[in-house]
Amino acid sequence: MVVGQETEDEMIVPMGNIVIGPPESVEPKRSSVDFPHSRHFASVDCRTCHHTWQGTEIIKSCSTSDCHDVMVSPTKSEQGRANPDLAILYYKTGYHQMCIGCHKEIRIQNKQLEISFKELKETLTIPGPTGCIQCHPKE
Ligand code: HEC
Ligand code: HEC
Ligand code: HEC
Repeated sequence: MVVGQETEDEMIVPMGNIVIGPPESVEPKRSSVDFPHSRHFASVDCRTCHHTWQGTEIIKSCSTSDCHDVMVSPTKSEQGRANPDLAILYYKTGYHQMCIGCHKEIRIQNKQLEISFKELKETLTIPGPTGCIQCHPKE
């Protein structure tokens, strides 16, 4: 028998809001972001966001090493200017592209549904914020 062995097969899924701030090494310019994690579960699949998740291993933070772990804007570093593939590995671009990209997509779909009268305005999906201050409120 192995005494004191850690069981690591339990993943704690944060319910309610997650406050997303920048990784420790980054000096923040904007306020942290209130992200209603579990509210997204109803309409968005886990793997849309946790896009490398195979369904068995424990989900880690987006800025974990070897994921979106570039902490300096690639447009500001020589290495980054030489290698455009680094862009999405920059943690901020990873977040912005995912969060803002999806919310914008919903806005476009809503507009089309409104124009085509296929759906009542009241029943359209809430698009989620796309403006800076909406996500990073002034402190
Ligand atoms: C849908 C939400 C959302 C919107 C809209 C958004 N951001 Fe962000 N932003 C985030 C998240 C999430 C992060 C990563 C967490 C963090 O670093 O605070 C982030 C990170 C940042 C960072 C790097 C961290 C820092 O504080 O220096 C900056 C700068 C930033 N955003 C500026 C902006 C600006 C400017 C706009 C508008 C053009 C904007 N954001 C719009 C969610 C958003
Ligand atoms: C709309 C996007 C989105 C959806 C959908 C989503 N998540 Fe998340 N989840 C996030 C973000 C963003 C974080 C914060 C990650 C970070 O801190 O870097 C997070 C954090 C987590 C964490 C904590 C990771 C850590 O930092 O330790 C777990 C576990 C998790 N999610 C599981 C799930 C599961 C299971 C589902 C489906 C039921 C799900 N998520 C659906 C975006 C999402
Ligand atoms: C794939 C699509 C998708 C992604 C990715 C996504 N969202 Fe959303 N977001 C939604 C939808 C759909 C809703 C409306 C949920 C509802 O009906 O309650 C929403 C709602 C929200 C709201 C509440 C808006 C309100 O009016 O109350 C916030 C805040 C938000 N999202 C922040 C974020 C942040 C921050 C991220 C990235 C970490 C993110 N979202 C990623 C689809 C997405």
